[in-house]
Amino acid sequence: MTQKEHGSVDDWIELFYRKYPEVYRTQMDQLMEDGEIEARNISSVFEKLNIGEGKHVLDLGCGIGRHSVPLAEQGYIMTGCDISPYYLQIAKEKSKQKNLSKKLRFLEGDIYKMVDEFKERGEKFDAVMAFSVPFGYNTENDMKLFRMLADVVEDKGVFLLQTTNRDWILSNFANEEVREISTDMQVKELRSFNIENSTINSSWSLYQKVDEHKEKIASASLNVRLYSFHEIKEMMENAGWTSINSFGDMKTLEPSTLESRYFNTFYKKRS
Ligand SMILES: C[S@@+](CC[C@H](N)C(=O)[O-])C[C@H]1O[C@@H](n2cnc3c(N)ncnc32)[C@H](O)[C@@H]1O
Repeated sequence: MTQKEHGSVDDWIELFYRKYPEVYRTQMDQLMEDGEIEARNISSVFEKLNIGEGKHVLDLGCGIGRHSVPLAEQGYIMTGCDISPYYLQIAKEKSKQKNLSKKLRFLEGDIYKMVDEFKERGEKFDAVMAFSVPFGYNTENDMKLFRMLADVVEDKGVFLLQTTNRDWILSNFANEEVREISTDMQVKELRSFNIENSTINSSWSLYQKVDEHKEKIASASLNVRLYSFHEIKEMMENAGWTSINSFGDMKTLEPSTLESRYFNTFYKKRS
């Protein structure tokens, strides 16, 4: 993966998305219903931008198919990419249950490599979406990906980008978070924020209960650059995209504000 030189992002992804993917499984399952509502709202915005039924949509970091599956049900031709074979297997099962194999394909790998491969093959999409996919591991790579995505999207194509609102994170900042994954697994995250570069430095520890005590079974650390709205918008504009519309919540379609936890912004490729 291209970000290797910038800390331990590869180790973090390996640990939480490939080795112990159950750490995020419960959260993803809980968000599945929201995914259906969000997918309906995504398609209503897409349609206004001439991205209707039958159009090709690339879902980067599709996870368990929260959006890819309902969007395929609505008639889009979906390509879901993810680095986690575990999440992809769940997504494939959902697709099979709903007989969507003609409208939905899943590819395993790193999004940076896959987008590069689409570009090399000249494969293009009408729209691309990156929902809840962590950006900020490396600003240069983020920019590179935004630029490459403009090359794999048709003229007047659309990019729906969800990013976490830096200002929401700071107003709700917690130095420590402990989450119970199951009766015998717990994850602990210790965070600090660097005001010099708007980066969150996190250390993660995974514990397993063995008999009556808990044992640390893995740890990883990660630095993530948080973006405020104007920064991400400027990056996207420099990468060839024009912002059209932004929602603070894709479930309710309320507009983006300082209090929004996420920004769900629709961009159009500049011709
Ligand atoms: C928080 S989940 C979001 C999943 C889905 N988009 C959703 O909204 O439910 C982030 C997903 O991105 C995937 N992911 C993270 N980094 C990736 C990378 N470099 N290449 C491919 N997939 C990646 C993870 O495996 C995970 O499924």
